[in-house]
Amino acid sequence: MRLSILGCAVASVFIVATGAQAADGKAVYDKDCAGCHKMMAPKTGDKAAWAPLIKTGVDAMTANVIKGKGMMPARGGHADLSDADTKAAVEYMVDQSK
Ligand code: HEC
Repeated sequence: MRLSILGCAVASVFIVATGAQAADGKAVYDKDCAGCHKMMAPKTGDKAAWAPLIKTGVDAMTANVIKGKGMMPARGGHADLSDADTKAAVEYMVDQSK
């Protein structure tokens, strides 16, 4: 019971679309990341902003997204995202930004 209440709260706060395809980077990005990264740094597609990050590697960037960095909450605020989904979204953003 407690769990289902928690589940509801989480779902309503983050507007979770459960059953999102695993590791579909674009879908994860559009749903969970674009809200911020379309408008704030590092902006998706901003090659200059991404170049130094890309050098650190996708795994290092993914780790920063998973634990959160600066104004970005852990997993972009989407606790339901798996590590694989998070990484796929990072890879999609990298592809768009190099
Ligand atoms: C609430 C707004 C917000 C959301 C949602 C968000 N981000 Fe971010 N993201 C940021 C900000 C701000 C930074 C810059 C953090 C810093 O360097 O201080 C950042 C940084 C990053 C970085 C660079 C990490 C590094 O190594 O420096 C990556 C990669 C990234 N975000 C991916 C994602 C992905 C993938 C998602 C979706 C799962 C996501 N972000 C969702 C705001 C957001």
